[in-house]
Amino acid sequence: MEIRRLVAADAHAYWETRNRGLKEFPDAFTTSIEEGLATSPTTLVKRFGGGNSDDFLLGAFATDGTLSGCAGFQRESRQKNRHIGTLIGMYVVPELRGTGSGKKLLLALIDEVRQLHDMEQLNLSVTHSNVSARQLYLHAGFVPFGIEKNAIKVDGVYYDKEYMVLAL
Ligand SMILES: CC(C)(COP(=O)(O)OP(=O)(O)OC[C@H]1O[C@@H](n2cnc3c(N)ncnc32)[C@H](O)[C@@H]1OP(=O)(O)O)[C@@H](O)C(=O)NCCC(=O)NCCS
Repeated sequence: MEIRRLVAADAHAYWETRNRGLKEFPDAFTTSIEEGLATSPTTLVKRFGGGNSDDFLLGAFATDGTLSGCAGFQRESRQKNRHIGTLIGMYVVPELRGTGSGKKLLLALIDEVRQLHDMEQLNLSVTHSNVSARQLYLHAGFVPFGIEKNAIKVDGVYYDKEYMVLAL
């Protein structure tokens, strides 16, 4: 398993993997599959493609080169909150689930974030009923600090989101 930053050439693979996650786990993500399909690979690349932004996407590649997992980072942009960033879009394909890929991706992302200048805290939100993701984050040292009731509504069912923070 190779973990590296995604670049423009990975846009289509990322688009497909991301949409697979949005389709298979609608209650794990705030973006819907319809919104995922409507966002072009080019738009995704622009969002994470470098430039002046500290934002990035990491991909986990299986030995045959398939993109099998991903995780992203978005930094706040204003002077007063630039010390904060958010983990987004954490996903591992079902075939590799439970083999340590999620943990490797998360630890690699935390390592990269620690190297950014003046970064102090990494936030995330997770669907409160998502046992595997919650355990992954808690084991990595994230500390829960609040719950938003009925944060997302999927096919008429409400789900709470838990907010967590890791001091870097
Ligand atoms: C959450 C997710 C990324 C975990 O990836 P993974 O590769 O299966 O996780 P790992 O094998 O690296 O396991 C890491 C930790 O997660 C926890 N975990 C994983 N699967 C679990 C399960 N079925 N039940 C409870 N805990 C679980 C464990 O704490 C494990 O650490 P440990 O082995 O030291 O106990 C993956 O299940 C996934 O993509 N789920 C669907 C999308 C999703 O929920 N994304 C999160 C959005 S916030």
